[in-house]
Amino acid sequence: MRLLIPFAFVHLCVASEDYLTKRAKLLLDESTMTIGGNIILSDKESIVNNCLMQHKFNEVDYGFDNPQYYNFSQHFFAYKDRIRKSKVYQIIRDMPKGAALHIHDMGLLEPNYVLNITYMDNLYVCFENNDVKFKFADKIPREDCGNWTLMSEARNSAENITKFDEKLMKYFSICVPDPAVIYPSIKEVWYAFTEYFKRVAPMMAYRPVWEQYFYDVLKKFRDDNIMYVEIRSVLLSLYDIDGSTYDPLITAKTYRKALKRFMKDYPDFFGAKLIYAPPRNIQPNTLDDYLKLAFRIKADMPEFFAGFDLVGQEETGSPLIEFIPQLQAAGKDINYFFHAGETNWYGTLIDENLVDAVLLGAKRIGHAYALPKHPLVMKLIVDNDVGLEVNVISNAVLALVHDVRNHPLSAFIAQGLPVVLSSDDPGVWGADPLSDDFYVAFVGVASRLSDIRLLKQFALNSLKYSALSSTAKVSAIRKFKQRWSTFINNFDCSRYSSK
Ligand SMILES: *[C@@H]1O[C@H](CO)[C@@H](O)[C@H](O)[C@H]1NC(C)=O
Ligand SMILES: *[C@@H]1O[C@H](CO)[C@@H](O)[C@H](O)[C@H]1NC(C)=O
Ligand SMILES: *[C@@H]1O[C@H](CO)[C@@H](O)[C@H](O)[C@H]1NC(C)=O
Ligand SMILES: *[C@@H]1O[C@H](CO)[C@@H](O)[C@H](O)[C@H]1NC(C)=O
Ligand SMILES: [Zn+2]
Repeated sequence: MRLLIPFAFVHLCVASEDYLTKRAKLLLDESTMTIGGNIILSDKESIVNNCLMQHKFNEVDYGFDNPQYYNFSQHFFAYKDRIRKSKVYQIIRDMPKGAALHIHDMGLLEPNYVLNITYMDNLYVCFENNDVKFKFADKIPREDCGNWTLMSEARNSAENITKFDEKLMKYFSICVPDPAVIYPSIKEVWYAFTEYFKRVAPMMAYRPVWEQYFYDVLKKFRDDNIMYVEIRSVLLSLYDIDGSTYDPLITAKTYRKALKRFMKDYPDFFGAKLIYAPPRNIQPNTLDDYLKLAFRIKADMPEFFAGFDLVGQEETGSPLIEFIPQLQAAGKDINYFFHAGETNWYGTLIDENLVDAVLLGAKRIGHAYALPKHPLVMKLIVDNDVGLEVNVISNAVLALVHDVRNHPLSAFIAQGLPVVLSSDDPGVWGADPLSDDFYVAFVGVASRLSDIRLLKQFALNSLKYSALSSTAKVSAIRKFKQRWSTFINNFDCSRYSSK
């Protein structure tokens, strides 16, 4: 063949054997370095993989040929409803995904669920300044607001209840049809995000709601083929209908109570642990109070308590450097799972939270979005085997990255870093517990060539980097492998065919 090609073309088109060998080796070596790159697939897994990759190639190649329509270079709100049609998504949804390790208390269930809470008895509502306040009470709430009305009365006096509920539901999500206009910068979207929590908190903190909410979270996560969760919570003080409030330790106990009830109903679920994660926008003396509570929870429920974190917009909260002596002292007894580097502001104290998180011995880091700018921190993370909790959709919605192909996760995957995928607050932007994040990471962020081995390794990492004891980890991984085998053995590619 080669002899038939004119001489001038030989140099242009056909590289030498030697060159091609070197090239192939380089690519192979790189692919072995990636997350999951060392996994060897069984024959059955390879069959599933072929089906998965055929659909993935279709999607990616369609985007390559039609970049003007490419889903992943658009805003998540623009394409999220189209995800359900994707065959890759459907396969991922059916796949066991291990654990969700970075999720927040009140941000996990969809607007419809929150709307249902407003149908409960004894809820008061107050519409004021284009916003709404809620409170469960047996008489008009004491909180300052112009016109408290019983929710049932407000609803029944509406001209059109469907319309009334549709309007109300807009307050339970930050999804909007035109995010570029409504949220021109990180400031506006974080404002809306924070307001969501402030708005729903007085509903959720009603004791009967809090417990049921977590039970229903576990149900929804289990339905998404997740077997274990670690939930971060600000641990609001719960209250009762007569206005009496409870010690936040009770809030922590309420989680465990809901978990016990859930495990009784669904014994195949592996479990849950709690990370106490109060707001970071504080003075050092408030941190002392937080840490005291953390120690009390740990003393009371050592099995259930995983550790401590601080939450809220990193850019407007206090950086970790302000609390080093306190955190160092407490760090002898409690594990840290700090949010750090959830920012585009290179060279600021916010960006340097990554340095402090690692030096303070964090077991995992939330987001670590700015990590590629810190090669030595990255090295420490690898040496100390610190898990990186990556939440791609959250980072896109909360305005760190627009086109997810530019998300640093692609580099983390390429370098084989210890990544676990999670979803942060999927209810607030109408995403699945975990499947949407797996899908966007797999098709939109990872290499076109990354295959089922990446997904399997993400799931395995979520158990490996969990706060489970080493014996529990072994058992969790064994159970995961059983589920994985069942998924592989029952897989039928024709269920995902386009026809
Ligand atoms: C977006 O994704 C969906 C699901 O894969 C697909 O049906 C649709 O064609 C995609 N749209 C574009 C413009 O790529
Ligand atoms: C809301 O309540 C209705 C009626 O009880 C129920 O059918 C529906 O499943 C609930 N929705 C959610 C999201 O919980
Ligand atoms: C108070 O709110 C209720 C329901 O939201 C409404 O029907 C009523 O007109 C309001 N009253 C005043 C004085 O604004
Ligand atoms: C009530 O509002 C809904 C949604 O906005 C609309 O579809 C429906 O037609 C309205 N019903 C009446 C009786 O106007
Ligand atoms: Zn978070």
